[in-house]
Amino acid sequence: MTILRSVVAGVGSALPRERVSNDALVARGVDTSDEWIRQRTGIGGRYVAAPDETTVTLATAAARQALERAGIGADAVDVVVLGTTTPDDTFPAAATQVQAALGMRRGFAFDVQAVCSGFVYALAMADNFLRLGQAKTALVIGAETFTRLLDWEDRTTCVLFGDGAGALVLRAEPGTGTAADRGVLTTHLHSDGRHRDALYVDGGPSTTGTVGHVRMKGQEVFRHAVNRLAEVVDEALAAAGVSAAEIDWLVPHQANRRIIDAMGRKLGLPPEKVVVTVERHANTSAASIPLALAEAAADGRIRPGHLVLIEAMGGGFTWGSSLIRW
Ligand code: COA
Repeated sequence: MTILRSVVAGVGSALPRERVSNDALVARGVDTSDEWIRQRTGIGGRYVAAPDETTVTLATAAARQALERAGIGADAVDVVVLGTTTPDDTFPAAATQVQAALGMRRGFAFDVQAVCSGFVYALAMADNFLRLGQAKTALVIGAETFTRLLDWEDRTTCVLFGDGAGALVLRAEPGTGTAADRGVLTTHLHSDGRHRDALYVDGGPSTTGTVGHVRMKGQEVFRHAVNRLAEVVDEALAAAGVSAAEIDWLVPHQANRRIIDAMGRKLGLPPEKVVVTVERHANTSAASIPLALAEAAADGRIRPGHLVLIEAMGGGFTWGSSLIRW
């Protein structure tokens, strides 16, 4: 049976100019140490956006690179789906601002708010548009200036996050409906809103009228992440009818090295099959997976035909996974 698949045609990324090491945070007065941060999280540094670097500018740069690598112009794009928690404005959507910046005069664009799961959510939505024939070419972006949400007095959160953007061009192509097809094979989304208090921002347009800061119960998030991610990864493997041994690359959301390692061990994958960027990027929320995909595709690790598993969990809680044949 012929079906439509969303095939990856190009991938791009963008990082702010300034890299801030753990030691630089200490020098800026954060009561922490390089040793504590590395040991508990695997984070060695993060990129921090300057005032002129915003979610929209980073997303636009990543999108341009993805389009260039796909060999198409912005006018070929039918839909832009952008995962972000940190839009430039309360409205309009960052996606429509990226659409304008790219010079797109047609199609439609909107944001998705699922915090660190934002890219998986955005990918699932774009995949649905393409498989239903409602669009032929999609730009899926994860972009954040998450450091704007940080309380630099709160060492339990401010050391964990960074800024950046990644983008994927997807094109609808016919497939056979088997796991041998190139493209997005399966996507799985979940949320459980009862966990709002474990990870949230204490502000917003409808309450305080301020942007607010990230607040987190770290251990609760950690425990849920390990359990929920294990479940949603099994769900993806079962739905696609593939075994963990067939995975070429695990590209997890980059929040914490210990969560990433736990997932690699659960799947029985050797460390060299797990793409890890958390040491350099820290947790860039919705941007972390496309940043890691862009890096591993650009340096030749991820190649056409490879089976790539992505998974993420974030505030809400939200979580999800996808299997992509590159
Ligand atoms: N530097 C130094 N010490 C710190 C610190 C920091 N940045 N942050 C916390 N501490 C201290 C605490 O005050 C505590 O001290 P105490 O024992 O004297 O009270 C101690 O370190 C241990 O704190 P705890 O919260 O128990 O640490 P932890 O082992 O749970 O690690 C996290 C904390 C945040 C790294 C960990 O819980 C985690 O990664 N959780 C998941 C977070 C996540 O992934 N969030 C994003 C999801 S998208």
